[in-house]
Amino acid sequence: AYVVTEGCIRCTYMDCVAVCPVDCFYAGANMLVIHPDECIDCGVCEPECPAAAIFPDSDPRAAEWTALNAEYAAVWPNITEKGAPPADADAWKDTPDKRALLSP
Ligand code: SF4
Ligand code: F3S
Repeated sequence: AYVVTEGCIRCTYMDCVAVCPVDCFYAGANMLVIHPDECIDCGVCEPECPAAAIFPDSDPRAAEWTALNAEYAAVWPNITEKGAPPADADAWKDTPDKRALLSP
């Protein structure tokens, strides 16, 4: 499965949602995750993310986020349409170490 990582926090551009053929994204207050059992590994979302937050689970950068995606995909609501990202999304796009800012 593909995995949403730290870069999504406070950015939530939702370009990924717009292209996913199986609607397997789930939305928290300031981050999205991918349901690992629903993702079909098509890969189309990865290059669409302006924050470069999506990686295949084989990528080392996804490692510490795989469990979090599975955990929150089970409780956050499904999201199937791209909405308006936060007004300050671009300001957060290149900010490192956003993990502490995650709002479950
Ligand atoms: Fe959806 Fe494909 Fe991305 Fe998986 S890899 S989340 S199926 S767009
Ligand atoms: Fe997040 Fe990137 Fe999608 S910022 S909402 S993973 S397009």
